[in-house]
Amino acid sequence: MRRVRLLVLGMLSLSLAAPGYASRPATDSAATPRSPVAAELRATLAAQPRGDLQRGKALHQSLMCAACHGETGVAPTGNWSSLAGQRAAYTYKSLLDYQRGDRHEDDRANLMAVVVRDMTRQDMADVADYYASLPPPPAAAPKLTGETRRHIEQLVRRGDPARLLTPCASCHGASGQGGNNETPALAGQSVGSLAQTLHDYRSGRRVTDANQGMRQFAQRLTPDEIEALAKYYASLSGKRR
Ligand code: HEC
Ligand code: HEC
Repeated sequence: MRRVRLLVLGMLSLSLAAPGYASRPATDSAATPRSPVAAELRATLAAQPRGDLQRGKALHQSLMCAACHGETGVAPTGNWSSLAGQRAAYTYKSLLDYQRGDRHEDDRANLMAVVVRDMTRQDMADVADYYASLPPPPAAAPKLTGETRRHIEQLVRRGDPARLLTPCASCHGASGQGGNNETPALAGQSVGSLAQTLHDYRSGRRVTDANQGMRQFAQRLTPDEIEALAKYYASLSGKRR
């Protein structure tokens, strides 16, 4: 009896204290974007529902995602990201970021805020798993050459200890295919969207990175390196994981 009561109490306090994103009244565009707290983010991703691919596919059409991000999840323009082959945890997290008003580098985020307003976490998990199941985008730029290529490959694979730059590949994968948890795939995204988002981290406009990891890395890069890194990742074709 006593054990049962303890168990119940334990479960209650667990659920009360459960970290993770509380549901926040969504899409108050005046809300100041907040950075994710790492522990909350981990708990949120651990509770990501299992997605239903068929439902995800249907939502991709009915919610008009296809109109902007492409029928097959490969964006028809370089203005925004392809979603095909992206890690499900990153897509799921990004949709929550928009819904909570935590991703708002500029007014383009309003488009996404409207789209996600009424999505449930199950809907988000369904589309996220659907995109993860699609073949990643093909290369979107020619390979770098010469000294720039040598410098950037060094940065990607070895980092730069003098500037406390961790190798990009240690998190984003050896071929830009994405890494653990919410670490996104970068291969085959457009030069423009990759460069823009790195500049947004650098200036602190984008604050969606837990522990400010990407903000710190981007601040240690020169504008020329940002351009070249964007070209480098755009030139990779995503590999199946
Ligand atoms: C009207 C056009 C439009 C529609 C419809 C749309 N999106 Fe977007 N999406 C955008 C734009 C623009 C951005 C970039 C916004 C920014 O700068 O933050 C974006 C960004 C995203 C991102 C972040 C990608 C990244 O690499 O960080 C995800 C994920 C996403 N959209 C998923 C979806 C899903 C899922 C749907 C359907 C439920 C959808 N979008 C519908 C225009 C659209
Ligand atoms: C310690 C791990 C780590 C390292 C090292 C790292 N990243 Fe990231 N990166 C992340 C995570 C995690 C995110 C997602 C953050 C978020 O949700 O905003 C991210 C996001 C990004 C994005 C945004 C992608 C999108 O679709 O919007 C770009 C671009 C990027 N990183 C490029 C780089 C480059 C270039 C380097 C090397 C100079 C690098 N990263 C090093 C972990 C890392």
